Amino acid sequence: MTAKDWDALADEFSSRVLEISECDIDGVITAAAKRLGGARKMATDFGCGAGGVTRLVAPYFKTVTGVDYSPKLIDAARAQTLTKNINYEVADLQRKRAKRFPCDVAFCANVLIGEDEAERELMARNVLASIRNGGNAVFIVPSLEAVMRTYQVARQFQPERHVRSWAKDEVASLPRGLVKMGGVATKHYLKDEIAELLTTLKLRNVSVSRVSYPWREALDGAPRNLKAAPPWDWMAVGTKCA
Ligand SMILES: C[S@@+](CC[C@H](N)C(=O)[O-])C[C@H]1O[C@@H](n2cnc3c(N)ncnc32)[C@H](O)[C@@H]1O
Repeated sequence: MTAKDWDALADEFSSRVLEISECDIDGVITAAAKRLGGARKMATDFGCGAGGVTRLVAPYFKTVTGVDYSPKLIDAARAQTLTKNINYEVADLQRKRAKRFPCDVAFCANVLIGEDEAERELMARNVLASIRNGGNAVFIVPSLEAVMRTYQVARQFQPERHVRSWAKDEVASLPRGLVKMGGVATKHYLKDEIAELLTTLKLRNVSVSRVSYPWREALDGAPRNLKAAPPWDWMAVGTKCA
C-alpha cells in the first residue's frame, strides 16, 4: 500500500485496521516498554499510524517520536496527543537513504507487512540504522501460525466447507506467507522466520513472544465461551550490536 492508500484509510483507521496497542490482552507491549525504557532514553515508533503504540510507550521514555509516511495519519496521531514528550514526523521508510530518527529503542508495529520482500527488508534496515549501538528493537508482525489456528478453531462452530472456502479466498500465497487482510495481501510470519530475518539483519539476542488479542478481532461471530487460546501477533525483541 502507498502513503495515499493509508491516507485514504485515515478517517476509518481504528475501525478498519487492527491497532495492536488497543487490544494487547496481556499488556506485553507496555511490559517491553517498561523493561527497555528509562528516564533518559529516547524511543521512535516507526510506521506509527494513528499513534497507538507511540502513546502507549511514551510514559516509559524521555521522548518518543512517531514516524509515518501518511500525513493524514500523522495528523490523526497529533490530534490525540496529550503529553509533551511525544512528537511526530512524516517520513518514508522505504527510501534508500531514509532520514534517521536516533533512538535507544525502536518500535515498529505491523509495518513490515507489504508483499515485496526487498521493500520490507529495506524498511527493517532503515529502522535498525536509527538505533544506537546497544539499543533495542521491538518489531511486531502478523503471525502465520495464528491464521492457521484461527481456521482450525473456526471449524469448531462453522461448517468445514465454509472455513475451507474462507481460507481459499484469504490465503494469497502460503509459501510467501501472504494472507489477505481487508482484501490486501499482507505478509504474515512464522516465529522462526521473523527471528531469522532479524538475526540476518544483525540484531542479537532476538526473543520472540506473543501479543495476544481477542478472538472477536479474527473471527466474526466467535462464541463468547471459546476455550482456545486467543490469536496473536509476534513480538520480536533484539539488541543492536556494533
Ligand atoms: C498496519 S498500520 C500500523 C500502524 C501502527 N504501527 C499500529 O500498530 O497501530 C501500518 C503503518 O505503516 C505505515 N507505513 C507503511 N509503509 C511505510 C513507509 N514506507 N514509511 C513510513 N510509514 C509506512 C502506514 O502508513 C501505516 O500507518
